[in-house]
Amino acid sequence: MLSLKEQIEKFQKEINEFNVATAADIENYRIRFLGAKGIVKQLLAEMKNVAPELKKDAGQLLNSFKQYAENKIASVKEIQVQEKSVPKIDFSLPATPLPIGTRHPLKIMENNIVNIFEKIGFSVATGPEIEDDWHNFTSLNMPANHTARDMQDTFYVAQNPDWVLRTHTSSVQARILETQSLPVRVICPGRVYRNETISARAHCFFHQCEGLYVDKNVSFADLKQTLYYFVTEMFGADTKVRFRPSYFPFTEPSAEMDISCTVCGGKGCNLCKHSGWVEILGCGMVHPNMLRNFNIDPEVYSGFAFGMGVERMTQIKYQINDLRLYSQNDVRFLRQFQSI
Ligand code: DAH
Repeated sequence: MLSLKEQIEKFQKEINEFNVATAADIENYRIRFLGAKGIVKQLLAEMKNVAPELKKDAGQLLNSFKQYAENKIASVKEIQVQEKSVPKIDFSLPATPLPIGTRHPLKIMENNIVNIFEKIGFSVATGPEIEDDWHNFTSLNMPANHTARDMQDTFYVAQNPDWVLRTHTSSVQARILETQSLPVRVICPGRVYRNETISARAHCFFHQCEGLYVDKNVSFADLKQTLYYFVTEMFGADTKVRFRPSYFPFTEPSAEMDISCTVCGGKGCNLCKHSGWVEILGCGMVHPNMLRNFNIDPEVYSGFAFGMGVERMTQIKYQINDLRLYSQNDVRFLRQFQSI
């Protein structure tokens, strides 16, 4: 029969080898060693067989064994609790996909336009969307009774009859001429507002990109060459352009520019209404009256300006035929621009 010491050593070895386990295993272990009929109790009962002179040592041995068993169970329990709270990670699982957002098609187009002009020395300028009469109309050679004001149905700000939601980005031209020293060469993207009934072809807000170049000796040929460069960069080298005489109060002479239809190449289709040409912008030489409004001598300086609709450019480039799509935030529409 094993002595008390030998038995304790044997059990100690068993406890040593006991390792991380389920809560039930731990409980079984506790009962086996520390329970009412457990090993510690049984060993204690054997104390009566120990010779009196050895009792003291045996008692200490048994006590430290009991302590040992208790510590072991406590530490295994702790590991078990920790493991439970740390979720098991399976590193072989595919990662959770992070959905990638998309740029809005109008922003893509605005960036394209701006990048093309930046390459030839234009810098970006912006202005406020709530404008005063002077910057939106009067300084642009459209005095209060000017018939051209009828061309734009205007939202007036109720608190102040002098304030409007700007009807075009040409107002930024006025702000630039007012504040910057010449020469200026700017491209001005932004949102504009008109009191239109919303339909596939009209909206009460949309976006424009304005261009302005004022320096000594700027000519209509410079305007044509600049816009021709723009169009070939945007729509490809074989795009043709044509200029038609037009009227804008802030330019003289004024023109509208068409490009050969990007869908049918000029043969005739729905986009070009079977004419082979699509109108893309208005332009002209800055009107001398406008220069005078900003104390610029039209005998010394000249300039050109142009303004294009960003929705219109996007429609031509991506064949989007309903203006309402741009502001409906339908992800099925927006996702189509993910890779651009
Ligand atoms: N502001 C005009 C519009 O909203 C567009 C425009 C035409 C801008 C001719 C210009 C320009 O700068 O020279 O229809």
